[in-house]
This record gives sequence, C-alpha cells and structure tokens, in this order.
Amino acid sequence: MSDLEQLEAQGVAELATSSDEQSLIAWNQRWFGKTGLVPLALKKLTELPGPERKAYGQAVNKLKEILSAAFAKAQALAKERALELSIATEQLDPTLPGKPWESGSLHPATITMRRILAAFGELGYEVYHSREVEDDETNFGMLNMPPHHPARDMWDTFHTTDPGLVLRTHTSPGQIHAMRERAPNPLRVVLPGLVYRYEQITARSEIMFHQVEGLCLGENIGLTDLLGTLEAFIRRLFGPDRKVRVRSSYFPFTEPSIEVDMDCILCSAKGCPVCKRSGWLEILGAGMVHPVVLRNGGYDPDKHAGFAFGLGVERINMLLYGIEDIRAFWSGDLRFLRSF
Ligand code: PHE
Repeated sequence: MSDLEQLEAQGVAELATSSDEQSLIAWNQRWFGKTGLVPLALKKLTELPGPERKAYGQAVNKLKEILSAAFAKAQALAKERALELSIATEQLDPTLPGKPWESGSLHPATITMRRILAAFGELGYEVYHSREVEDDETNFGMLNMPPHHPARDMWDTFHTTDPGLVLRTHTSPGQIHAMRERAPNPLRVVLPGLVYRYEQITARSEIMFHQVEGLCLGENIGLTDLLGTLEAFIRRLFGPDRKVRVRSSYFPFTEPSIEVDMDCILCSAKGCPVCKRSGWLEILGAGMVHPVVLRNGGYDPDKHAGFAFGLGVERINMLLYGIEDIRAFWSGDLRFLRSF
C-alpha cells in the first residue's frame, strides 16, 4: 500500500468515528486545514524528482476528492441524526401557553348601533344604507325645504367646494332614496349612519355623530302606529317600565311633528342635571311624513301614508352607559374604549 493509499484509509476510518458536528469540524481542520494532512501531502510534490511529480499530483488530487466526498456524506448523515435525535427527545408540548394576542373590541358607537338596529329588526324593519355626501336638493329641498327656507337654520351645514354638495346634516335625505327605490310598495326601513354639523364642539355637541332614521309607509298608517312603534323600541332598549311622553314640534318634512321623551333613567324622573331637573329626556324627533315629501319620493299622498323618526345614537349611548362627555367617542382614548 502506497503512502497515499494509507492516508486515504486513515482519513476514511477517522471519519467513521466522527459522528457529531464538533468532531467533524475537528476532522476537517486536521485533514484540510492550512497545515492539514492533505496540503502536507501536496507539499511533498516539490521534494520529488521531476518525472514522478505528475503521477503523484494526480494521486493527491484523487485523495482530496475521495476525502471531500466522504466528508460531505458524513456531514449530511450527522445532520440527519441530529434532527432525528431532537424529534425523539425534545417533544412538542401543545399545552404551553401561546404568544399573547392583543384583541380589539367593538367601539361603543358600534355596540349601541347594533342594539338599536336589532330592536328595530324585531319590529320588522330592514336596514337601508344611504350616502354621507349628499346634494343640497336631497338633504333639504326634497324634504320640503327650498333654498332660503328658514328651517334650514336648524342644521348647521358643511358645504363642499363642489356647489350643491354637502355633508348630510341628518339621515332624513335617505328617506328620499329609499322611497324612490321602492315606490309604490309598502316600506319599513331604518337608515343608520354618520351625519355632520358645523357646530362648536362641546361636551354635548359634536361635528359628527350617528343617527338612525326610521321610515314606515303603506296604507292606513297613523300616528298611533308611530307611537306604538317608538314605545316598543324605547322599552326594548331601556327596559319595560319606561314611560314615554310626546310633545308637539316642528320639522318641515313631517306633519304633524312630534318630539318624544322618556322618563329619566338616571334619576328615576326625580330631576337631575342630565334631564335638566325636568325628569324627562328627549330621545328623538318624529312625525307623519309630509305629503310633499311623499310625492317627492314617488308615493301618492291620497293613497299612502306613513311615519318617520330620527334618533341620535350618541345621545342614547350616553344615557345607556352614563357617559358625560360626547367628545369621548372620537377621542381615541383607549381607557375609554376598554371600559365597554
Ligand atoms: N332629521 C331630523 C333631525 O335631524 C329628525 C327627524 C327625522 C325628525 C325624521 C322627524 C322625522 O333633527
């Protein structure tokens, strides 16, 4: 056996006993490092007489190839073994607690909106969505408020740079859209959404808030149906013992118009700052749909009649949860949001 053959056998034998990563690194260093056995064997080339050099060089290269291949094989084997070992010994524990997950929650405006819509759902109302950017004509004109009508002063309006386009000041223009889509069929819809008013922001007034509009149209629908509906709604939301009171009011799009109050839930109608010591809380505006509005919506006032109402969701929210400042809804304060 030549020296090189002996070297090959030695290298392979040493590899066979180097089964883990550490000893493989050491083997590689010993054989292929700067002063390793293979470079050393190559160096011998210079000591040989010329004619022998070629054959020797070829033999050393072959040795290098064989040992490199054997090393790669041993390395792969060691990796596989390490994996098998870790699977066998380090067991997966599915009972370990997972990474904590920050979960969000519903905004109180959403919670209350859903409660309101659910209550009307029980009364047979369907949800109808309407646009927030509205034209002046639908927000006012179609609702019986032609330009310069003094009643427009009841709504402080955001005008856009586009003449005739406004941010809706109430959900009532949605009545026109719903009517025009459904006329002359009977109709029972609630229209939820944001409305915008150009107002000073205080604890009790905001520039944007939610409203829910209600509209019920058909034949032989009267004021008593309106009162029964609102009472059923208020009791579903605030409890079966709530008392409801009606005052006459004015809206250009309803005739007659009413304002609906319920007995103050905060002081049990004894009188407190929230109900301004009256014992009553204003909940919503309502009335029988004005004949002009019916006609604008495509209904015949001689054949059809109906009622409409509009309620402020934040106001109801504040009453339900005892919230004192309306600005809290848009403050983005997590302490407020987490308390629901
Ligand atoms: N749109 C009225 C408001 O915003 C409320 C209302 C709706 C009154 C429907 C009567 C009928 O003040």
